[in-house]
Amino acid sequence: MSRLTRKITGSDLILFNVTFDMAILVCGATGFIGSHFCVLALQQGLDLLLLDNLENSSPKVLNAIREVTGISPRFVEVDIRDKSSLDAVFATNQVDSVVHFAGYKAVGESAAEPLRYYRNNVDGSLNLLESMKEHGVRKLVFSSSATVYGVPEFNPYTEEHRKRPFNPYGQTKSVVEDMMYDLCASDPQYALVALRYFNPIGAHPSGMLGEDPKGIPNNLMPFITKVAVGQLAELGVFGDDYDTVDGTGVRDYIHVMDLAYGHIRALQYLNSNAGYQAINLGAGRGYSVLELVSAFERINGVSIPYVIKPRRDGDLAAYWADASKAERLLGWKTQLGIDEMVRDAWAWQSANPNGYN
Ligand code: NAD
Ligand code: UD1
Repeated sequence: MSRLTRKITGSDLILFNVTFDMAILVCGATGFIGSHFCVLALQQGLDLLLLDNLENSSPKVLNAIREVTGISPRFVEVDIRDKSSLDAVFATNQVDSVVHFAGYKAVGESAAEPLRYYRNNVDGSLNLLESMKEHGVRKLVFSSSATVYGVPEFNPYTEEHRKRPFNPYGQTKSVVEDMMYDLCASDPQYALVALRYFNPIGAHPSGMLGEDPKGIPNNLMPFITKVAVGQLAELGVFGDDYDTVDGTGVRDYIHVMDLAYGHIRALQYLNSNAGYQAINLGAGRGYSVLELVSAFERINGVSIPYVIKPRRDGDLAAYWADASKAERLLGWKTQLGIDEMVRDAWAWQSANPNGYN
């Protein structure tokens, strides 16, 4: 395991020396999580090629990455559904490993338009795995989700929990995981890691990068920040009669910088470990909706008016991660808590009320 060395400017994370040297293709690089990963990886001296079709992100993210890191990232505008363009990327660039964030992620939308989700998330990933195979690239870190587990049979979820996603989005993540598993079984040289994220929130502490959803946010944290900045009148809390600490839903929120760092540790892991691994990335504890709201108010001194609404269809009462596998295999655990999450989410939104626009 590498040595504890330094604090990176602009980040609260204690990082370890990066002791590997690889050229990394980052798909979905300008999205919320991808952009935070890119900042951290560039600051760690990793060699990145950023790829995105900019369908759900802004090219201005590239400026933000440059401003925070002082490095001009290499970028290609490519859609992973376009196999020949993807092939050209592999043919003309050195790629040793891939980090794959590209895909659609809205649960409700996936139920309304399942084929679009399968086409992008499954077919796009299949293209990527095929291009990798054709160009001899056998290392991949994939963005999966805790949503693959479905209704908890026990809490916290371990990676052994049965996979039973109950929406098309979760199905697409599960299918890609299965493809990765089968590929590793077919060829012992593959090293593929699926990271099952819990609820990523927060932003880069500089306030220069963050989550920028289009339209009215579906997810809790961006909804709160839009209320805080005055663009939405009040938060609707979906149900206060769950069997939880205060009746509101409980989730395992994870700071996006912690999550980004988990990918660097995963890359380091697959550099010396072949085979398939699915690994939870979460804090290992839950907070309720009202706990998150009151942390936001306490840390940021902004009040968040809310009203209790009926439960949202498809919502679960409570779940959180058993994150011990990540600690065991990757030497990773979360370092940032709820206070940093709400602080940084607000630093981003208050400095950029209209996101990247
Ligand atoms: P995001 O939408 O902000 O980022 C995804 C990026 O991928 C966007 O920049 C988008 O333009 C790009 N993209 C989409 N389809 C593409 C295609 N066909 N070709 C090239 N680029 C494409 O989402 P995010 O929050 O950063 O999530 C990243 C990944 O993590 C997604 O795969 C998502 O399913 C997964 N995930 C996210 C969360 C979360 O809460 N944000 C939770 C669990 C898993
Ligand atoms: C959802 C997705 C999950 C995805 C994650 C991040 C479902 C069932 N799950 O998780 O697959 O990985 O987003 O994209 O959709 N809440 C409110 N008011 C709001 C918004 C949310 O009270 O306006 C509550 C929810 O009821 C829940 C909690 O806040 O209890 C978190 O919700 P959200 O941020 O949407 O994430 P999840 O539903 O956990």
